[in-house]
Amino acid sequence: MAILKIARMGNPVLARAAEAVPDPTAPDIAALVADMIETMHDAQGLGLAAPQVHVPKRVVIFHVPDERADDEAPLELMVLINPVIEALAAEIEDGWEGCLSVPGLRGVVPRYRRIAYRGVGLDGRPIQRQAAGLHARVVQHECDHLDGILYPQRMTDLRQLVFTSELHHRMSPAEAETVAAEQ
Ligand code: NI
Repeated sequence: MAILKIARMGNPVLARAAEAVPDPTAPDIAALVADMIETMHDAQGLGLAAPQVHVPKRVVIFHVPDERADDEAPLELMVLINPVIEALAAEIEDGWEGCLSVPGLRGVVPRYRRIAYRGVGLDGRPIQRQAAGLHARVVQHECDHLDGILYPQRMTDLRQLVFTSELHHRMSPAEAETVAAEQ
């Protein structure tokens, strides 16, 4: 296992569509995911997409730790290959996001509140789930990476793009803690 270098905004690997994985059970995919998990934990992220570690393949990992769980239960680490997302309702919710590829910044991003997603796990088995709240937000953020989209491109009001060091001007320290993680 290894901690991988994270690509930052401006790197072309983050701006193009990633390729589907023909065999999710291939050993090189298992090795990639092991390194992504180590890299995400080292960076204290909520999620990570393969293009963020310079691998243009449709692989994402994410979790919702206990302390971040909102109206949904905490989510154990999920590995999702070739993911597909579908909105379950038209309802859109604004929420703060950060990204390991856009370090030091946070922005308010509109996302679907309720989604269904599907994909394949490392064992080759299909995964199908529904998600709401932060869980749904994280999945949408990670899957956007597979299509070359970073969260600032989803923002509708760039006045809401701020440095983490300035968040205290608009929220309490406790609130700032809840938007601390990048993904
Ligand atoms: Ni990100």
